[in-house]
Amino acid sequence: MSTLPIETERLRIRHFTPEDWSAVHAYTGDARVMTFVPEGVMTQEHTKQFIAESMTEDARTYAVDLLAEDRLIGHVGFHPWFAPRIYELGWVVHPRYHRQGYATEAAAALLQYGFASLSVHRVIATCQPENRPSWRVMEKLGMQREGHLRQCISRNDTTWWDEYFYAILADEWFHAVGSRESGVGETPRAASG
Ligand SMILES: CC(C)(COP(=O)(O)OP(=O)(O)OC[C@H]1O[C@@H](n2cnc3c(N)ncnc32)[C@H](O)[C@@H]1OP(=O)(O)O)[C@@H](O)C(=O)NCCC(=O)NCCS
Repeated sequence: MSTLPIETERLRIRHFTPEDWSAVHAYTGDARVMTFVPEGVMTQEHTKQFIAESMTEDARTYAVDLLAEDRLIGHVGFHPWFAPRIYELGWVVHPRYHRQGYATEAAAALLQYGFASLSVHRVIATCQPENRPSWRVMEKLGMQREGHLRQCISRNDTTWWDEYFYAILADEWFHAVGSRESGVGETPRAASG
């Protein structure tokens, strides 16, 4: 995305650099974090490859820094889905920084950017029903649960995962932002440099 970095009150969303790999591997190598992430637990090499792929023109994933510590604490996915003007959103945060609203804050900035600057019409997100932290983020963003897909992902030879499917439309986002007093949905500012 050409307008990166984007800054929120506490976070910076930016393109990855090769030096990010160890900060990213601190959580992509952690089985507790990666349980419901499609890529699964990553080796160091896999993490480096993931970052390299996220630095191309077709990047789908972006680093999230905590401004107060000038430290990478997670990443967000934001990219076109299968149809025009529809994007998918996703998130992973280092466990030390969970439950402080960081995933919601980063995702809100991307929703605002997508709806206001990219003319996105609809943003979707999916997760497993067991992943309450992830679907709570979706609900805090104002996304609606549109479906519960049963045994739609083959996890291994014997296990199938269900999936929750959430979405929010541009109109719903702008309506919610207009009536909200919290920081969620505030227009993110492009950072200098
Ligand atoms: C999903 C994830 C990114 C959320 O990050 P976060 O910065 O902690 O998210 P927020 O603080 O914005 O909100 C998390 C919400 O989940 C709730 N939550 C967090 N951990 C929880 C737990 N173990 N049990 C129940 N609720 C939990 C929080 O209380 C909060 O909801 P609330 O505001 O209603 O209380 C983070 O848990 C994570 O990285 N998980 C592992 C990776 C992953 O599964 N990514 C999504 C794949 S679909």
